[in-house]
Amino acid sequence: MASTTSASSAALTFELVAKCSTTRARASILTLPHGTVNLPLFMPVATQASLKGLTPEQLEDTGCRLCLNNTYHLGLRPGQEVLDAVGGAHKLQGWNHNILTDSGGFQMVSLLKLATITEEGVRFLSPHDGTPMLLTPEHSMSLQNSIGSDIMMQLDDVLVTTSPDAARMREAMERSVRWLDRCIAAHKRPDVQNLFCIIQGGLDLEMRRECCREMVARDTPGIAIGGLSGGEAKDDFCRVVACCTELLPELKPRYVMGIGYPEDLVVCVALGADMFDCVWPTRTARFGNAVTKFGVINLKREMYAGDFRPIEEDCGCPCCRPIEQEGAMGVTRAFVHHNAAKETVSAHLLTLHNVWYQLNLMREAREAVIADKFPAFAHEFFDRLYPDRT
Ligand code: GUN
Ligand code: ZN
Repeated sequence: MASTTSASSAALTFELVAKCSTTRARASILTLPHGTVNLPLFMPVATQASLKGLTPEQLEDTGCRLCLNNTYHLGLRPGQEVLDAVGGAHKLQGWNHNILTDSGGFQMVSLLKLATITEEGVRFLSPHDGTPMLLTPEHSMSLQNSIGSDIMMQLDDVLVTTSPDAARMREAMERSVRWLDRCIAAHKRPDVQNLFCIIQGGLDLEMRRECCREMVARDTPGIAIGGLSGGEAKDDFCRVVACCTELLPELKPRYVMGIGYPEDLVVCVALGADMFDCVWPTRTARFGNAVTKFGVINLKREMYAGDFRPIEEDCGCPCCRPIEQEGAMGVTRAFVHHNAAKETVSAHLLTLHNVWYQLNLMREAREAVIADKFPAFAHEFFDRLYPDRT
């Protein structure tokens, strides 16, 4: 009997295309209200409804069809009234592809050290005028309904420390489950917007398992693994991702939140995860850093002043493609170096290159899974990055 390879909910279809015969890596197709994306996928972060340094058209040129916005930032500015008036974030930013919004709690807890969490929600002082504010699961959903994101995230209770006490961790995990129920009840547009749950539970595998069981039972169209971008040890990180993916339904997208180092992406794909986001590739571009298959290079360094090679040789991004090709800019390292100190053009170019790099890495991983050559792909990737490793 042929096994089922696709599943649909009201606003999403997930189709499993191939599975690696050695690792848990998978290739799939996710169809969302604003089009189809291939998984595994890296999603760049456009915090304020714009990806710093790129126009929507340039973001489109990287191949990106699903980017992140933050509920917290958009809710504060331009605010819900403007979002409702313009008809949502797609219209606001001239982006006719998919948008995923994080729920806002994580940003407040990580950015505003003064945020306090109670059963009601997350309390904080407005960074604009200091007025006390409260973000509840219901308010986050209402804002995300106004934003009109294709994927919305539940409000969760996130701990930003790697070593909280077990009782607080349990409280956060259980509260995240209760908040998911409140989010589901408050969601006004389940026919056109997908709500994803977020697995919490820190580094405690038993707590993670318990959380997986509770969250999976609520049958959201996709599932995220949260609480992992805090600088935990790599082996702990891998154990948690592996423990969760083992328990998650095969025919739903799995999103590991806040992950963006190329090594972490490849490892997470091997462990059966499909979607990732991180500000790192775009943020590091603004410091003059190019992400390449041989590692990160800083083009501000003097050694690049007379280097007329592209940012990365054999990269297919619009900056690096040979000038003879259509849409190519033929940018050199020397040009980026020359402008890096004073002009913003270098940050724009490096952002374009870095986003393209991340998307292409996941494209290559996907092709490798489809050809059932993912282990060889992963070995080559790490050998190139760490040639001296014994
Ligand atoms: N971004 C990175 N990690 C997390 C998380 O655990 N929860 C939320 N909401 N966003 C995140
Ligand atoms: Zn490039």
